[in-house]
Amino acid sequence: MSEFTIRPATANDAEPIRAIYNYYVTHSTYQIVLKTAEERAAWLRDRSERHPVTVAESDGGVIGWAALSPWKSRCGYARAAEASVYIHHQHHRRGLGRALLLDLIERAKAAGLHTIIGGASADQHASLALQIALGFEVVGTFRESGRKFDRWLDVTYTQLVLP
Ligand SMILES: CC(C)(COP(=O)(O)OP(=O)(O)OC[C@H]1O[C@@H](n2cnc3c(N)ncnc32)[C@H](O)[C@@H]1OP(=O)(O)O)[C@@H](O)C(=O)NCCC(=O)NCCS
Repeated sequence: MSEFTIRPATANDAEPIRAIYNYYVTHSTYQIVLKTAEERAAWLRDRSERHPVTVAESDGGVIGWAALSPWKSRCGYARAAEASVYIHHQHHRRGLGRALLLDLIERAKAAGLHTIIGGASADQHASLALQIALGFEVVGTFRESGRKFDRWLDVTYTQLVLP
C-alpha cells in the first residue's frame, strides 16, 4: 500500500475517528448509537499517556485509529488496558491494523502497563485474527452478552501479558 504514518491523535482527528467508527456502528460492534462530534472530541481530550489514541495517516487523511482505554475503573486494574483498532472499511488487509496494534503494544510497554485486553464480537473474525496474529491468547467467550440487530451476540476476549 502507499506509505502511511502513525502518530498520536490530536483534537483535529476527532471527526475522521468518528466517521471511521460510525461506519461500524451501523454494520457491527456493540455500540448502537452513533457518536456525535462533541462526544468524540471529549473522549479525545480525556486521554493520558497510559491511554493514548493514535491514528494512521496516508496522503494527509486519517484511515485508521487505535486506542488503549481503562479496563476497569477500580485502581487495582490500573495497569490493564483494553485495545481498540478500527480501520476505514475501504482500507482493510493492507497492514494498517497490524501496524497500529504493534505500535499500541509498544506504547503500552513504555507507559508501564502490564497487560492488554482485546476482544470482539465472536463473529468479528478479522479483529480476533489480528489480535491472535500479534500474540494475544483467547481467554474465553461470554455467551449472549450483547444484543444488536435483533439477535444475541457472544463476545470473545483475548489477552496479551507484556514482558
Ligand atoms: C480488524 C481490523 C482492525 C483489521 O485491520 P486490517 O488493517 O484490515 O488488518 P491487517 O491488514 O493489518 O492484517 C493483519 C493480520 O490480521 C489478520 N486479519 C486481518 N483481517 C482479517 C480477516 N478479514 N480475516 C482473517 N484474518 C484477518 C491476519 O492475520 C492479518 O495478517 P496477514 O494479512 O498477514 O494474513 C479491521 O478489519 C477493522 O477495522 N475491522 C472492524 C473492527 C470492528 O468491527 N470491531 C468490532 C469489535 S466488536
